[in-house]
Amino acid sequence: MSNDTKAAGIIGTGSYVPETILKNSYFEEKLDTNDEWIVSRTGIKERRKVKPEMATSDIATYAALKAIEDAKLTPMDLDMIIVATVTSDMSFPSTACIIQKNIGAEKAAAFDISAACSGFIYGLSIASQFVKSGSKKNILVIGAETLSKITDYDDRNTCILFGDGAGAAIVSCVEEGFGILSAYLGSDGRGGDLLKLPAGGSRMPASRETIANSQHFIKMDGSEVFKFAIKIMGEAAEKALSLCGMEKEDIDYLIPHQANIRIIESATKRLKISKDKVFVNVDKYGNMSAASIAVALDEAKRTNKLNKGDVVVLVGFGGGLTWGSAVMKWT
Ligand code: UT7
Repeated sequence: MSNDTKAAGIIGTGSYVPETILKNSYFEEKLDTNDEWIVSRTGIKERRKVKPEMATSDIATYAALKAIEDAKLTPMDLDMIIVATVTSDMSFPSTACIIQKNIGAEKAAAFDISAACSGFIYGLSIASQFVKSGSKKNILVIGAETLSKITDYDDRNTCILFGDGAGAAIVSCVEEGFGILSAYLGSDGRGGDLLKLPAGGSRMPASRETIANSQHFIKMDGSEVFKFAIKIMGEAAEKALSLCGMEKEDIDYLIPHQANIRIIESATKRLKISKDKVFVNVDKYGNMSAASIAVALDEAKRTNKLNKGDVVVLVGFGGGLTWGSAVMKWT
């Protein structure tokens, strides 16, 4: 352990989305909804779904191996694995431990965090503290979800929104002045009932009644979450910028949580940045909760949207309620 404070940043990314595509027409056939409503209210055209036998750790493992390769590391180089998810394989062991076994990262401490859609930013922030303090060198941060497993496909209010996917990043030491410059995390537990999975925990263990009442599926007050999101996205991004002495004019690229195109457009407007500086893939994948920003970051990188020295802002919100933002100088 060293006393020097180091710079921490992302040195590799990876992502994976399942092959099966659910287009809006799939819902048109089953429910009282249509493509026009879904696209105009959400921007979503299709989303991915895992096969029944696949769990979150399976798709997260694919994303993790790609990130490790991209960073030119091996699994044995990892000191820590942090997994952000609301769809862990099971309550315990953690999904992080299952991935550790899958990839053979024998030297890594592994744990999950629960911050819903903000989870990947929470994970990056935790990882950056360990790397900056010098106590850990290479940390794998994953945002991964199989939301199809907790989605009620009879509930038109929620089922059109969610999809499955996994994204990963390696946080490590980077050149001074680069990497994660600031992170801002927040929560408001008073809004916890707005977005939740009621049953299956210690409050309401699984029973015949909970299954009969569909309480193992996501419940959401969409319009209240929408109002919260509109307010918090811009605020959180501005706060992270101010923490590192920057302003919204300094943003070169924005990677927002992909929940709804109208929420993304509202943040874009408030931050006064042009649309070509904002990454959008909500049309292809829907809302993948903790995986959304992680997959978007990898796709932005692989499509050469991020250049060395660019000021890249990540911002997200989610159940809890939680929110998080981070400013990076891209390495
Ligand atoms: O990652 C964080 C997780 N969650 C979110 O980010 C969700 C945030 N919220 C939203 O994105 C939006 O609130 C929704 C897309 C969920 C809903 O859009 P909205 O413009 O807020 O619609 P609304 O909830 O105000 O509903 C308007 C109407 C309702 O009908 P009535 O009560 O006015 O007759 C809904 O029942 O639209 C109806 N509706 C639908 N109609 C057709 C709700 N879902 C559908 C649907 N197809 N799939």
